[in-house]
Formats: sequence, C-alpha cells, structure tokens
Amino acid sequence: MIEFSQILTANEKFLSVIKVAKKISTSDISVLITGENGTGKNLLAMAIHDNSTRKSGPFVSVNCSAIPESLLESELFGHDKGAFTGAYAKRKGKFELAHKGTLFLDEIGDMNLSAQAKILQAIETKQFIRVGGEEVVNVDVRVVSATNQNLIEKVETNSFRMDLYYRIREITMEIPPLRERKEDIPILLESFIKQFSTDFGKKIKGISNVALNFLVNHDWKGNVRELRNVVRTAVALCEKDMIWLEDIPLRLELGNEKSSTEKILTMESFSLNDMEKTHILRTLQHCRWNKSKAARLLQISRPRLNRKILEYDLKKPDKKNNPRHMS
Ligand SMILES: Nc1ncnc2c1ncn2[C@@H]1O[C@H](COP(=O)(O)OP(=O)(O)OP(=O)(O)O)[C@@H](O)[C@H]1O
Ligand SMILES: [Mg+2]
Repeated sequence: MIEFSQILTANEKFLSVIKVAKKISTSDISVLITGENGTGKNLLAMAIHDNSTRKSGPFVSVNCSAIPESLLESELFGHDKGAFTGAYAKRKGKFELAHKGTLFLDEIGDMNLSAQAKILQAIETKQFIRVGGEEVVNVDVRVVSATNQNLIEKVETNSFRMDLYYRIREITMEIPPLRERKEDIPILLESFIKQFSTDFGKKIKGISNVALNFLVNHDWKGNVRELRNVVRTAVALCEKDMIWLEDIPLRLELGNEKSSTEKILTMESFSLNDMEKTHILRTLQHCRWNKSKAARLLQISRPRLNRKILEYDLKKPDKKNNPRHMS
C-alpha cells in the first residue's frame, strides 16, 4: 500500500501535482503521468490506485516497451486456446486481470499503432475480444498511463493516435526532474540512508557536508532511481557512522578533494535550511564572494541573495585569519 506521504518532496510544483492526484484518485478519471526516467511515475501511479475506491481491486501493470510488438495484443487482451502457435490454453490478458482495479499502461509511448487502436476501443466500450476468440469480455477498469516521451510530438508525427492521447490524458501529471527540485535531495537522502542502514544492519547517522554538497551539485540524469542506487552503494561502502565523500561511487568525477576537511552534519541537523545555507555559502566561496555571479548561479535575484546572507549570517572569510579557499 503506497500512501501519498511516501512520495517525498518539498518542491512546490511536485506538491501541487500530488494535491491534484489526491483529489482525483477517487474518481475514474484517466491519468497520464509524464516525467524523465526514475522520477517516480510508477510510485505515483500506485499511490493513485491505493488511495482510490478501487484499492481493494488489482493494480495491473503492463510495460508496453518491454513486450515484443507481436505479443502485446495477447498480453493486453489474452488469447483463446489455439489462437496462434504456442497458445496451448486460454489465457487472460492484463485488461481482464485488471477488472475492478487499475490498469497501468507504462511506457505507453512505445505501444504500436495496432495495439493503440484496440486499446482505445476497449477503453471506450469497456469490452474486447481475446485474440483468436469470439466471446465478448466486459471489463470495468480505470486506466493510468505513464511515459517519458513527448506524446504530443508523437501525435504530430502520426506515431501516436490523437484520439487515444485525449482518452488517456483526461488529466496530465508532470513530475519534475530531480535537477529542478534539488531541495528534495536532503529529504530523499535522509530516507534512503535510514532505509539502507536498516537493510544492511548499519548505524549511519548522516552525511558529511562535502558529500551532501557533491550530491546536490550532481545533475542526476537518472533522477531519484540513480540517487537511491548511489545511496545504497554508499551505505554498503561506509565503514563509519557518517557517509563521507569517499563512500560515494560518483565521487571520482569530483577529483581528489580531501574528506578530512569535511564538516559533520548529523541527521538531527540535517534540515532543508542547513542544506540551503551550505549551498549558498559554497556558491559564494566558489564565486569568491562575487554576489552578482553567485546570484546568477543560484538563479535567484541579487536582493534575495542579500536577504539569505543576512538570514543565515554568512560572512566573507577574513583573508588574514582564514586563507583557505574552498571551491
Ligand atoms: N519522491 C519520491 N520519494 C521516495 N521515493 C521515490 C520518489 N520518487 C521515486 N522514488 C523511488 O525511486 C525509484 C524510481 O521510481 P519509479 O520507478 O516510480 O520511477 P519511474 O519514473 O517510473 O521510472 P522509469 O521511467 O524508469 O519507469 C523507486 O525506487 C521509487 O520508489
Ligand atoms: Mg516506471
């Protein structure tokens, strides 16, 4: 059972997506979830089902890209005995198995045009015929779909049916990539560190400042899945009670920064404010306290940066007392 609260985020855009998902989860509105690989599309689809009036029914997932074109129709609609070579017995398809529940059409952008036509008809009429069969099967299914592709472009190039597009996206929910919601990184880290520490029987209290900064500055092409895997490996490699830079499998990209200079942040002080403060300070140091440049890098206005500097009491290091320049 996935609760919406298990989808961890502090990002305004994503929070409003979740708010809408909560509102529509009890209706039968068809949802199209879009987002890059590993952003949490499956997680959101499961939460929508688990919080719907269909939650006691099945959640049946079909990965449209993993099934060879020739088998997709029988996978979706099932087949009768003898429908094709190798069809030794009658078999129910995913559509039928999802009766009274939710059918999750994952990677729907990869569905071939013939299957698209059939699925549209089945969604609209709530009926279909098994491959090689005659009997009409009635189904009551709510459809949730997901894709990492731009379906509108596919509609324009005639590789995705426009009528199916409008049918499956009564509402679209776009999950932002992790690089556009860096504020989520500490929250996700805390959760994954706890989870894998328990799994691996370790007592890890938190993550060092440099390791945290490194992870915040990584571009996360694989999004939350990549972050989760990195933390898993880091927890497995970690021999102390904190994760240090040397535990992070991606750290080679960073060069040989000395972890002995790391400042310890414990789990208790591991807040969003801590992360923001550290990130702003690090950016200022990187820009040698050129505030206009730092504001540009942080993508905030110069007055906002000044407010943050006051709020966090950030001070330009006195060169005489503190010659070390961290970049
Ligand atoms: N916001 C989040 N909070 C907690 N865990 C998350 C979050 N987003 C994703 N995850 C976790 O990250 C992993 C990848 O998520 P998921 O499989 O839902 O992504 P996806 O968008 O469906 O990926 P793909 O495009 O590759 O199918 C899963 O282990 C999931 O539980
Ligand atoms: Mg997925």
